[in-house]
Amino acid sequence: MMHRWVALFPESATPYANAVDHLYYFLLIVSGFFTFLICVLIITFAIRYRRSRHPFPQATRDAIGLELAWTAIPFLITIVMFVWASKVYMDGEVPPKGTQDVYVVGKQWMWKLQHPEGRREINELHVPVNTAMKITLTSQDVIHSFFVPAFRWKQDAIPGQYRTFWFNATRPGTYPLFCAEYCGTNHSRMIGHIYVMEESEYQAWLAGSDDVRPAEAGAKLFVQYDCINCHGTGLRARGPTLGGLYGTQVLLTDGRRVLFGEDFIREKILNPGDKRIAGFLPDMPTFKGQLTEEEIIDLIAYIKSLTRVTVSAEKEK
Ligand code: CUA
Repeated sequence: MMHRWVALFPESATPYANAVDHLYYFLLIVSGFFTFLICVLIITFAIRYRRSRHPFPQATRDAIGLELAWTAIPFLITIVMFVWASKVYMDGEVPPKGTQDVYVVGKQWMWKLQHPEGRREINELHVPVNTAMKITLTSQDVIHSFFVPAFRWKQDAIPGQYRTFWFNATRPGTYPLFCAEYCGTNHSRMIGHIYVMEESEYQAWLAGSDDVRPAEAGAKLFVQYDCINCHGTGLRARGPTLGGLYGTQVLLTDGRRVLFGEDFIREKILNPGDKRIAGFLPDMPTFKGQLTEEEIIDLIAYIKSLTRVTVSAEKEK
Protein backbone atom coordinates (compact mmCIF):
# COMPACT_ATOMS: atom_id res chain seq x y z
CA MET A 1 0.00 0.00 0.00
CA MET A 2 3.02 2.20 -0.44
CA HIS A 3 1.37 3.98 -3.35
CA ARG A 4 -1.72 4.89 -1.28
CA TRP A 5 0.55 6.78 1.01
CA VAL A 6 2.69 8.63 -1.51
CA ALA A 7 0.03 8.53 -4.27
CA LEU A 8 2.61 8.17 -7.01
CA PHE A 9 0.64 5.35 -8.60
CA PRO A 10 -2.98 5.23 -9.69
CA GLU A 11 -5.21 2.62 -8.11
CA SER A 12 -4.84 -0.86 -9.46
CA ALA A 13 -7.95 -2.80 -10.33
CA THR A 14 -6.70 -5.84 -12.23
CA PRO A 15 -4.16 -8.63 -11.62
CA TYR A 16 -2.43 -7.34 -14.74
CA ALA A 17 -2.01 -3.91 -13.13
CA ASN A 18 -0.39 -5.57 -10.13
CA ALA A 19 1.92 -7.55 -12.40
CA VAL A 20 2.94 -4.35 -14.19
CA ASP A 21 3.58 -2.62 -10.87
CA HIS A 22 5.71 -5.48 -9.55
CA LEU A 23 7.83 -5.41 -12.67
CA TYR A 24 8.09 -1.64 -12.38
CA TYR A 25 9.18 -1.87 -8.72
CA PHE A 26 11.85 -4.36 -9.74
CA LEU A 27 13.14 -1.99 -12.46
CA LEU A 28 13.13 0.90 -9.98
CA ILE A 29 15.01 -1.10 -7.36
CA VAL A 30 17.62 -2.33 -9.83
CA SER A 31 18.11 1.16 -11.28
CA GLY A 32 18.21 2.69 -7.81
CA PHE A 33 20.72 0.15 -6.56
CA PHE A 34 23.11 0.68 -9.48
CA THR A 35 22.73 4.47 -9.40
CA PHE A 36 23.65 4.36 -5.72
CA LEU A 37 26.53 1.93 -6.24
CA ILE A 38 28.02 3.97 -9.09
CA CYS A 39 27.70 7.27 -7.19
CA VAL A 40 29.39 5.76 -4.13
CA LEU A 41 32.23 4.37 -6.29
CA ILE A 42 32.74 7.69 -8.11
CA ILE A 43 32.96 9.60 -4.86
CA THR A 44 35.13 6.99 -3.11
CA PHE A 45 37.59 6.75 -6.01
CA ALA A 46 37.67 10.53 -6.45
CA ILE A 47 38.75 10.90 -2.84
CA ARG A 48 40.98 7.88 -2.65
CA TYR A 49 42.91 8.53 -5.87
CA ARG A 50 42.90 12.32 -5.67
CA ARG A 51 45.85 14.12 -7.21
CA SER A 52 47.40 15.28 -3.93
CA ARG A 53 47.79 11.66 -2.84
CA HIS A 54 48.75 10.26 -6.22
CA PRO A 55 50.55 12.95 -8.21
CA PHE A 56 51.56 10.31 -10.80
CA PRO A 57 49.10 7.68 -12.07
CA GLN A 58 50.00 4.15 -11.11
CA ALA A 59 50.21 1.40 -13.69
CA THR A 60 46.94 -0.53 -13.92
CA ARG A 61 46.76 -4.29 -14.07
CA ASP A 62 44.17 -6.61 -15.61
CA ALA A 63 41.44 -7.96 -13.40
CA ILE A 64 39.74 -10.57 -15.54
CA GLY A 65 37.53 -11.82 -12.73
CA LEU A 66 36.20 -8.33 -12.05
CA GLU A 67 35.59 -7.58 -15.72
CA LEU A 68 33.74 -10.85 -16.24
CA ALA A 69 31.61 -10.15 -13.18
CA TRP A 70 30.58 -6.67 -14.25
CA THR A 71 29.66 -8.00 -17.67
CA ALA A 72 27.90 -11.18 -16.65
CA ILE A 73 25.87 -9.81 -13.73
CA PRO A 74 24.19 -6.93 -15.64
CA PHE A 75 23.65 -9.30 -18.57
CA LEU A 76 21.81 -11.76 -16.36
CA ILE A 77 19.78 -8.97 -14.77
CA THR A 78 18.67 -7.59 -18.14
CA ILE A 79 17.73 -11.09 -19.28
CA VAL A 80 15.56 -11.45 -16.18
CA MET A 81 13.92 -8.11 -17.08
CA PHE A 82 13.37 -9.24 -20.65
CA VAL A 83 11.81 -12.59 -19.77
CA TRP A 84 9.70 -11.15 -16.97
CA ALA A 85 8.45 -8.21 -19.07
CA SER A 86 7.68 -10.46 -22.05
CA LYS A 87 5.62 -12.72 -19.83
CA VAL A 88 3.65 -9.77 -18.41
CA TYR A 89 3.17 -8.32 -21.88
CA MET A 90 1.95 -11.58 -23.40
CA ASP A 91 -0.44 -12.19 -20.51
CA GLY A 92 -1.90 -8.75 -21.20
CA GLU A 93 -1.94 -9.14 -24.95
CA VAL A 94 -3.51 -12.56 -25.42
CA PRO A 95 -7.09 -12.75 -24.15
CA PRO A 96 -8.25 -15.96 -22.49
CA LYS A 97 -11.03 -18.00 -24.11
CA GLY A 98 -14.62 -17.02 -23.43
CA THR A 99 -14.25 -13.30 -22.89
CA GLN A 100 -17.22 -10.98 -22.82
CA ASP A 101 -16.80 -8.57 -25.72
CA VAL A 102 -17.36 -4.84 -25.85
CA TYR A 103 -16.95 -2.76 -29.00
CA VAL A 104 -15.65 0.76 -28.73
CA VAL A 105 -15.63 3.49 -31.36
CA GLY A 106 -13.63 6.63 -30.66
CA LYS A 107 -14.72 9.79 -32.38
CA GLN A 108 -14.16 13.48 -31.90
CA TRP A 109 -14.70 13.73 -28.97
CA MET A 110 -16.31 10.84 -27.25
CA TRP A 111 -16.08 7.13 -26.66
CA LYS A 112 -19.06 5.15 -27.88
CA LEU A 113 -19.33 1.71 -26.35
CA GLN A 114 -21.49 -1.20 -27.29
CA HIS A 115 -22.28 -4.32 -25.26
CA PRO A 116 -23.27 -7.46 -27.18
CA GLU A 117 -26.40 -7.77 -25.02
CA GLY A 118 -27.54 -4.43 -26.34
CA ARG A 119 -26.65 -1.58 -24.06
CA ARG A 120 -24.90 1.34 -25.67
CA GLU A 121 -22.91 3.81 -23.63
CA ILE A 122 -21.06 7.06 -24.14
CA ASN A 123 -17.91 7.78 -22.15
CA GLU A 124 -18.92 5.17 -19.61
CA LEU A 125 -18.25 1.49 -19.46
CA HIS A 126 -20.01 -0.79 -17.01
CA VAL A 127 -18.40 -4.18 -16.50
CA PRO A 128 -18.94 -7.05 -14.09
CA VAL A 129 -16.24 -7.81 -11.54
CA ASN A 130 -14.04 -10.92 -11.99
CA THR A 131 -14.98 -11.32 -15.65
CA ALA A 132 -12.56 -11.34 -18.56
CA MET A 133 -13.63 -8.53 -20.87
CA LYS A 134 -12.30 -8.03 -24.37
CA ILE A 135 -12.41 -4.56 -25.84
CA THR A 136 -12.32 -4.17 -29.61
CA LEU A 137 -11.45 -0.62 -30.56
CA THR A 138 -11.61 1.45 -33.67
CA SER A 139 -11.95 5.10 -34.58
CA GLN A 140 -14.41 6.97 -36.75
CA ASP A 141 -11.99 9.81 -37.55
CA VAL A 142 -8.50 10.35 -36.11
CA ILE A 143 -6.27 8.34 -33.78
CA HIS A 144 -7.48 8.25 -30.20
CA SER A 145 -6.09 6.23 -27.35
CA PHE A 146 -8.15 4.35 -24.78
CA PHE A 147 -6.31 4.68 -21.50
CA VAL A 148 -7.38 3.23 -18.16
CA PRO A 149 -4.63 3.93 -15.62
CA ALA A 150 -6.16 1.59 -13.03
CA PHE A 151 -5.77 -1.27 -15.55
CA ARG A 152 -2.29 -0.09 -16.60
CA TRP A 153 -3.45 -0.41 -20.17
CA LYS A 154 -3.48 2.02 -23.07
CA GLN A 155 -4.57 1.06 -26.57
CA ASP A 156 -4.71 3.29 -29.62
CA ALA A 157 -8.00 3.49 -31.51
CA ILE A 158 -6.93 3.66 -35.13
CA PRO A 159 -9.20 4.54 -38.05
CA GLY A 160 -9.62 1.56 -40.36
CA GLN A 161 -8.36 -1.05 -37.91
CA TYR A 162 -9.63 -3.12 -35.05
CA ARG A 163 -7.37 -3.25 -32.02
CA THR A 164 -8.14 -5.33 -28.98
CA PHE A 165 -7.14 -5.59 -25.38
CA TRP A 166 -8.58 -7.45 -22.46
CA PHE A 167 -8.81 -7.08 -18.72
CA ASN A 168 -10.27 -8.78 -15.71
CA ALA A 169 -11.21 -6.22 -13.09
CA THR A 170 -11.08 -7.77 -9.64
CA ARG A 171 -11.97 -4.73 -7.53
CA PRO A 172 -15.39 -3.10 -7.79
CA GLY A 173 -15.20 0.67 -8.07
CA THR A 174 -15.12 3.60 -10.44
CA TYR A 175 -11.99 4.22 -12.45
CA PRO A 176 -11.06 7.08 -14.78
CA LEU A 177 -10.90 6.59 -18.54
CA PHE A 178 -8.89 8.97 -20.71
CA CYS A 179 -8.10 9.64 -24.32
CA ALA A 180 -4.32 9.59 -24.36
CA GLU A 181 -3.67 10.77 -27.90
CA TYR A 182 -4.06 14.41 -28.86
CA CYS A 183 -7.06 14.36 -31.19
CA GLY A 184 -8.18 17.95 -31.56
CA THR A 185 -9.85 20.79 -29.69
CA ASN A 186 -11.73 18.80 -27.07
CA HIS A 187 -9.19 16.05 -26.59
CA SER A 188 -8.87 16.91 -22.91
CA ARG A 189 -12.61 16.44 -22.46
CA MET A 190 -12.65 13.01 -24.04
CA ILE A 191 -12.75 11.38 -20.64
CA GLY A 192 -15.04 9.00 -18.87
CA HIS A 193 -15.36 6.30 -16.28
CA ILE A 194 -15.22 2.56 -15.99
CA TYR A 195 -17.65 1.13 -13.48
CA VAL A 196 -16.69 -2.26 -12.14
CA MET A 197 -19.84 -3.77 -10.63
CA GLU A 198 -20.85 -6.88 -8.73
CA GLU A 199 -22.41 -9.46 -11.08
CA SER A 200 -25.98 -8.97 -9.76
CA GLU A 201 -25.75 -5.18 -10.03
CA TYR A 202 -24.36 -5.55 -13.51
CA GLN A 203 -27.22 -7.81 -14.61
CA ALA A 204 -29.70 -5.30 -13.25
CA TRP A 205 -27.91 -2.52 -15.09
CA LEU A 206 -27.91 -4.52 -18.34
CA ALA A 207 -31.61 -5.24 -18.03
CA GLY A 208 -32.40 -1.58 -17.47
CA SER A 209 -32.56 -0.61 -21.11
CA ASP A 210 -34.29 -1.55 -24.30
CA ASP A 211 -31.36 -0.80 -26.62
CA VAL A 212 -31.32 -3.16 -29.57
CA ARG A 213 -28.69 -5.89 -29.56
CA PRO A 214 -25.97 -5.21 -32.14
CA ALA A 215 -26.74 -8.50 -33.90
CA GLU A 216 -30.38 -7.43 -34.30
CA ALA A 217 -29.42 -3.98 -35.50
CA GLY A 218 -27.04 -5.69 -37.91
CA ALA A 219 -29.79 -7.97 -39.20
CA LYS A 220 -31.84 -4.89 -40.10
CA LEU A 221 -28.89 -3.28 -41.88
CA PHE A 222 -28.29 -6.54 -43.72
CA VAL A 223 -31.73 -6.19 -45.30
CA GLN A 224 -31.68 -2.39 -45.59
CA TYR A 225 -28.43 -2.38 -47.59
CA ASP A 226 -29.52 -5.36 -49.69
CA CYS A 227 -26.70 -7.56 -48.42
CA ILE A 228 -29.30 -10.27 -48.20
CA ASN A 229 -29.80 -10.30 -51.98
CA CYS A 230 -26.32 -11.67 -52.58
CA HIS A 231 -25.53 -13.29 -49.25
CA GLY A 232 -28.90 -14.79 -48.50
CA THR A 233 -29.66 -18.36 -49.34
CA GLY A 234 -32.20 -17.69 -52.05
CA LEU A 235 -31.83 -18.33 -55.78
CA ARG A 236 -30.44 -14.91 -56.44
CA ALA A 237 -27.53 -15.45 -54.08
CA ARG A 238 -24.30 -14.47 -55.82
CA GLY A 239 -21.98 -14.09 -52.88
CA PRO A 240 -21.04 -16.67 -50.28
CA THR A 241 -23.73 -17.41 -47.73
CA LEU A 242 -22.35 -16.27 -44.43
CA GLY A 243 -23.69 -18.82 -41.96
CA GLY A 244 -20.94 -20.55 -40.01
CA LEU A 245 -18.25 -18.68 -41.89
CA TYR A 246 -17.15 -16.47 -39.01
CA GLY A 247 -13.88 -17.58 -37.46
CA THR A 248 -13.03 -19.95 -40.33
CA GLN A 249 -10.27 -19.68 -42.92
CA VAL A 250 -11.38 -18.75 -46.42
CA LEU A 251 -9.52 -19.27 -49.67
CA LEU A 252 -8.84 -16.17 -51.75
CA THR A 253 -8.50 -15.95 -55.54
CA ASP A 254 -4.74 -15.39 -55.13
CA GLY A 255 -4.39 -18.67 -53.26
CA ARG A 256 -3.98 -17.19 -49.80
CA ARG A 257 -6.06 -18.31 -46.85
CA VAL A 258 -7.31 -15.63 -44.49
CA LEU A 259 -9.31 -15.60 -41.30
CA PHE A 260 -12.93 -14.65 -41.89
CA GLY A 261 -13.04 -12.39 -38.85
CA GLU A 262 -13.80 -8.83 -37.88
CA ASP A 263 -10.99 -7.25 -39.89
CA PHE A 264 -11.78 -9.23 -43.01
CA ILE A 265 -15.49 -8.46 -42.92
CA ARG A 266 -14.82 -4.77 -42.37
CA GLU A 267 -12.41 -4.74 -45.29
CA LYS A 268 -14.85 -6.54 -47.57
CA ILE A 269 -17.61 -4.06 -46.76
CA LEU A 270 -15.40 -1.05 -47.50
CA ASN A 271 -12.96 -2.33 -50.15
CA PRO A 272 -14.58 -5.45 -51.57
CA GLY A 273 -12.20 -5.69 -54.53
CA ASP A 274 -9.05 -6.09 -52.43
CA LYS A 275 -9.33 -9.62 -51.16
CA ARG A 276 -11.66 -11.77 -53.19
CA ILE A 277 -12.94 -15.10 -52.01
CA ALA A 278 -12.25 -17.83 -54.56
CA GLY A 279 -15.21 -19.03 -56.58
CA PHE A 280 -17.19 -15.78 -56.66
CA LEU A 281 -17.43 -12.97 -59.19
CA PRO A 282 -16.10 -9.57 -58.15
CA ASP A 283 -19.60 -8.06 -58.03
CA MET A 284 -19.69 -6.72 -54.53
CA PRO A 285 -20.13 -2.93 -54.38
CA THR A 286 -18.37 -0.87 -51.76
CA PHE A 287 -20.28 0.57 -48.84
CA LYS A 288 -17.61 3.12 -48.06
CA GLY A 289 -19.12 6.34 -46.76
CA GLN A 290 -22.54 4.74 -46.33
CA LEU A 291 -22.03 2.99 -43.02
CA THR A 292 -20.71 4.34 -39.75
CA GLU A 293 -18.15 2.36 -37.78
CA GLU A 294 -20.90 1.47 -35.34
CA GLU A 295 -23.09 0.11 -38.12
CA ILE A 296 -20.20 -1.97 -39.41
CA ILE A 297 -19.77 -3.38 -35.90
CA ASP A 298 -23.50 -4.21 -35.84
CA LEU A 299 -23.19 -6.01 -39.18
CA ILE A 300 -20.20 -7.97 -37.92
CA ALA A 301 -22.15 -8.91 -34.80
CA TYR A 302 -24.96 -10.17 -37.02
CA ILE A 303 -22.64 -12.17 -39.26
CA LYS A 304 -20.94 -13.57 -36.17
CA SER A 305 -24.32 -14.68 -34.85
CA LEU A 306 -25.14 -16.62 -38.03
CA THR A 307 -24.67 -20.31 -37.60
CA ARG A 308 -25.62 -22.80 -40.29
CA VAL A 309 -28.82 -23.53 -38.42
CA THR A 310 -30.08 -19.92 -38.54
CA VAL A 311 -29.29 -19.74 -42.23
CA SER A 312 -31.37 -22.76 -43.10
CA ALA A 313 -34.13 -21.35 -40.90
CA GLU A 314 -33.92 -18.20 -42.95
CA LYS A 315 -34.31 -20.22 -46.11
CA GLU A 316 -37.62 -21.69 -44.97
CA LYS A 317 -39.14 -18.25 -44.47
CU1 CUA B 1 -9.55 11.40 -28.55
CU2 CUA B 1 -7.70 12.57 -27.66
